[in-house]
Amino acid sequence: MMTYLSGESDLVVPSYYEAIFQHAADAIFVVQPGGVIREANQAALTLTGYSRSELKNILFCSICKGIATCVEEASCTGCFFNHQSLSSFEMQIRAKDGRQYPVTASAATLPEDPLGSMVIVIRDMSQLQRTERERHHRLVTNKIIQAQEEERKRVSRELHDGVGQALYSILIGLKVINHLPLDDEKKRHLLDVQAMVEQTLDEVKNLATDLRPSALDDLGFLPAIRSYAKKFEATFGIKVELVVKGPKRRYSSTVETALYRIVQEAMINAAKYAATDKIKLSLIDTTAEVRLFIEDFGRGFDPSQVEGEGTGLGLYGMKERAALLGGALRIESAPNEGTMVYVRIPIDREGESVHADEGTHRG
Ligand SMILES: Nc1ncnc2c1ncn2[C@@H]1O[C@H](COP(=O)(O)OP(=O)(O)O)[C@@H](O)[C@H]1O
Ligand SMILES: [Mg+2]
Repeated sequence: MMTYLSGESDLVVPSYYEAIFQHAADAIFVVQPGGVIREANQAALTLTGYSRSELKNILFCSICKGIATCVEEASCTGCFFNHQSLSSFEMQIRAKDGRQYPVTASAATLPEDPLGSMVIVIRDMSQLQRTERERHHRLVTNKIIQAQEEERKRVSRELHDGVGQALYSILIGLKVINHLPLDDEKKRHLLDVQAMVEQTLDEVKNLATDLRPSALDDLGFLPAIRSYAKKFEATFGIKVELVVKGPKRRYSSTVETALYRIVQEAMINAAKYAATDKIKLSLIDTTAEVRLFIEDFGRGFDPSQVEGEGTGLGLYGMKERAALLGGALRIESAPNEGTMVYVRIPIDREGESVHADEGTHRG
């Protein structure tokens, strides 16, 4: 038989129903008019943080922080007992430690009960809301990353095909003029201008490649990263060793883009902070997932410090890109021990991300 918080009652509950009551995942309160709590199940104790005997000494109103439809100060008499039953409404409850939770609840009077008690069933929504917030955040991040890549692609193409082509035409024109009979001074002047245009053309091409290398779309991740590594070595004087294990194949555009951007960020970080003369890149395709290690042998850092300070957008972006594809990114580093960035992304036979999320299509 069920033991009641407030003692005597003629309400008889068989032990089978008592087990259901006690083990229900939702919090269940039996409340008398006026707010005295007669009974509460285990989930109710967990949700509120009160013990059974503590609940006996407080009114339900001190837990209830108002129903969404409540117009006046929360009062059990006003809110609950004016109704035979209330199906599914939102309310806030306050736990013993003062924290407030959003919950959904339903209430019904017990017709057989001489005291006119109500059963109030409460479901904690905070976890659901947190999950929903995280899902929304991920969706927005995904959209931002996609939009950013699209924009880079567009500007890169524009620079290459628009500005680049125009500069090339100017260069050809200058060469044609150069073949005309000109005095030495004019010729020297023309050659200077020609050199300036050539340099500008190189800069535009480099800018276009930095924004988004066409090799990434045309040839895939590996050729793009090989070419990036070569340029990186020349720019920073850091040796890049590339190790590839498993099949050499194309992955979906989103996977290739994510891998490329992660390598780029990790390598630039190594150049900026690691004070190293060597970076090792390892790409391992296990068929079920693609794994990537970016190791420098430099001065290292404490990753927990960076996250703790809320800085490090680059590291955050890397993690976010991997997570969006259902993968993960880990950073192992310690002062004077170098840094290793480890990424793994699950893929299928076609090199498509297994994580069937929006935006992970081949594109
Ligand atoms: N390879 C590395 N070696 C040493 N320190 C690093 C390395 N990568 C990152 N860090 C440290 O982590 C911090 C955060 O990196 P990141 O998120 O990329 O931001 P940012 O590059 O904009 O500073 C850096 O400021 C640096 O102190
Ligand atoms: Mg960075």
